[in-house]
Amino acid sequence: MSQRIAIVTGGIGGLGSAICRKLAESGRTVIAADLGVREDRIAEFKSEMADLGERVQFEALNVADEQSCNDLVARVNAKHGRVDVLVNAAGITRDTTLRKMTTAQWQDLMRVNLDGVFYMSRAVVEGMCDRGFGRIVNISSVNGQTGQFGQTNYSASKAGLHGFTMALAREVARKGVTVNSVSPGYCRTAMVMSIPDNIREQIVSQIPVGRIGEPSDIARAVDFLAADDAGFLTGVNLPVNGGLFISF
Ligand code: CAA
Ligand code: NAP
Repeated sequence: MSQRIAIVTGGIGGLGSAICRKLAESGRTVIAADLGVREDRIAEFKSEMADLGERVQFEALNVADEQSCNDLVARVNAKHGRVDVLVNAAGITRDTTLRKMTTAQWQDLMRVNLDGVFYMSRAVVEGMCDRGFGRIVNISSVNGQTGQFGQTNYSASKAGLHGFTMALAREVARKGVTVNSVSPGYCRTAMVMSIPDNIREQIVSQIPVGRIGEPSDIARAVDFLAADDAGFLTGVNLPVNGGLFISF
């Protein structure tokens, strides 16, 4: 088997970077696909990944733009021949109570958190089915399982991802393609650090394991689901939340 090719959307973000590193350390070539706008962050990311050489490469992508998604997958197919693993990690928050929420705050979020997953998954799934192997991992959230104050848009998008995951898992199960989601709890990334300090501290104090999650905690779960020998695991949601929400 030749080396697996993975795309991680939101790949230079807090969780995305850790996922890129873990998938590359497990032997894959990883394309970190993210908005190409933050040049300082792109440079910092490349320097963080320098020890992995060509195993991690950056490509610009706007997941909210259908053409951008199709173009990215075409570029990766042209350069590497295929996409074996897709991790949909690009995501945004637009926190506010429903009473104050603007239509733009609803729609902008849905375009990234849900439309983006649709565009990217559709762009890769045909090739995966043709080759008889694929792994799609969608990054959902504990707040898609429980709902969170101030996040009707975000919680709806992340709960929607679970429906998407289960339905697509059924469609491609006979083709060697698995589709799963990981639902992180609160982890140490820019998204969580932008919550007002007093609110974040109160949330973290309720996490049973007694600490905030690290991006590497999530990367470990993604790597597990993306493994070649994880073919009997599909349609699953894997919560990684330090016990914040325990269910079955
Ligand atoms: N539960 C119940 N009531 C709450 C509450 C809560 N969690 N938070 C606020 N309230 C109450 C306030 O006490 C206030 O009550 P009164 O009107 O009686 O005074 C009322 O709701 C309105 O509160 P605010 O004036 O603070 O409302 P706001 O619009 O200024 O702020 C908010 C609301 C922006 C949502 C703010 O509460 C907030 O940032 N919350 C954190 C949301 C959050 O956890 N986001 C997660 C981001 S990270 C992420 O999403 C990653 C992941 O997947 C885990
Ligand atoms: P992050 O650090 O903000 O990373 C998200 C990345 O996605 C950023 O690099 C962001 O770029 C990029 N992005 C935003 N819009 C995009 C678009 N249209 N196209 C391509 N890339 C885009 O957030 P994170 O904490 O790593 O979150 C990653 C995923 O995990 C998200 O789906 C999030 O909902 C989910 N999640 C996170 C936590 C947590 O605790 N951190 C918990 C549960 C779930 P810019 O920064 O330039 O916008």
